[in-house]
Amino acid sequence: MSAMTEVAFQQCITAACAARYGIDEVLFACTKCGSLLDVRYDWNRATIPKTLRSHESRWTTSGRSVEARADYSGVWRFRDLLPFAPTDKLVTIGEGRTTLQEADSLATTIGMHPHQLYLQYEGFNPSGSFKDNGMAAAFTMAGVLGRSRVACASTGNTSASLALFARHARSRNGSPLQAVVFVGGGKIAVGKLAQGLDYGAKTIQVEGDFDACMKLVQEAADKLDLYLMNSVNPFRLEGQKTIMYRVLEGLDWEVPDWIVVPGGNLGNTSAFGKAFAELKHLGLIDRVPRIAIINATGANALCTLVNDHDLQWNDSEWDQATIDKHWQTMASENYQAHTVASAIEIGRPVSLTKALRTIDIMNGVVRQVTDEQILDGKALVGVHGFGCEPASGASVAGLRLLLDEKIISLGDRVVCILTGHALKDPAVTVNYHTGAQATPRFANPPVNCAANIEAVEELLSGKD
Ligand code: F0G
Repeated sequence: MSAMTEVAFQQCITAACAARYGIDEVLFACTKCGSLLDVRYDWNRATIPKTLRSHESRWTTSGRSVEARADYSGVWRFRDLLPFAPTDKLVTIGEGRTTLQEADSLATTIGMHPHQLYLQYEGFNPSGSFKDNGMAAAFTMAGVLGRSRVACASTGNTSASLALFARHARSRNGSPLQAVVFVGGGKIAVGKLAQGLDYGAKTIQVEGDFDACMKLVQEAADKLDLYLMNSVNPFRLEGQKTIMYRVLEGLDWEVPDWIVVPGGNLGNTSAFGKAFAELKHLGLIDRVPRIAIINATGANALCTLVNDHDLQWNDSEWDQATIDKHWQTMASENYQAHTVASAIEIGRPVSLTKALRTIDIMNGVVRQVTDEQILDGKALVGVHGFGCEPASGASVAGLRLLLDEKIISLGDRVVCILTGHALKDPAVTVNYHTGAQATPRFANPPVNCAANIEAVEELLSGKD
């Protein structure tokens, strides 16, 4: 056993069970009670940074050493806060070099005070979404375990990220890993489908939605020797914790008042709560921000369960009967999630219970926004100079709603997470601006023009 495996272990999230497992046991749920697992650390055996600020200097490391490669990664720069693998085993393709962007013009437009709104643009990742943070960690574990075939179900971004990393990671015989991705037929944005195909993933288009893909991939992982890379793999979430570390870094290590994040399968939500609970436990921050998790109205399981059925973490004794009843009702009504934000078109989020824990840790709220609000939110991000895919627009739409409700104050310091790149789903953007959507409030349609300078002059003069 290496020193790292002694520091890290896996543990069931329920206090009553709390079963512990080694990190090299391949499990996606507790074998005793069926709950989700965490990666946990014996911090007494770990090398804990004295301050978070100590990570800053790693931006400037150069060279070809193992440490320099790790320092270049926005995930592994923080490796002392996810110490489950030795530095020479860390997989990286330069993920997580994303920064926090101050969004003053957007803040002013929606009535907020200047210098209080920030956008964490995860579209800057190598595959164009936040998923690369998690894949760096999960592929590291796949390498430690010597796995050669990896798989996921996806609404498009997980599969793109998995497919890309698989080309770079190496199995024990030195060849790239085989990537197998399960996507809902006709359900994922064309940019994301293109990525998986281009990176050589075996792309299985399932006759069904994301929930059907998720069920199938879990069965396939069990039976067909595939290493599962969805967020039920707790190592994925370790990588996604670092999004929060970079947010703090962007704020000069000051804790914001709010984090606003779109909620789909709830992996990010789960990772963010864990990140802050650990930082607080280690004395590296003095308070925890609040979180707002934003569902689409057409994929609103968390919102319904929390707000209508009062589902709570309850010290890990959540009311499973309420959850089961909700799934039964969905099944009996033949409910299928549906939203223009295809990334978050998910009926049964797998990390639901960990999300409840995050709501508890971060005094969170859950809201839902319509497709129209999502697209307007996305358009606002675009016109103020960043661009994002539809699901990311949900965070700005949710912020606007919570400002209206006065839950978030105009003077609060808020960070919206922009989860994916604008070019992931350009069809939705073009449809919005050309008026294919009923009421695009911020549409900027193209104008037709004859091929002569007079016509251009007339157009630019503002006359019809
Ligand atoms: N935003 C984007 C762009 C996403 O791709 C996803 C999830 C989310 C938000 C929601 O994040 O699941 O952590 O709550 N996409 C997954 C996928 C489901 O398969 O690509 P979450």
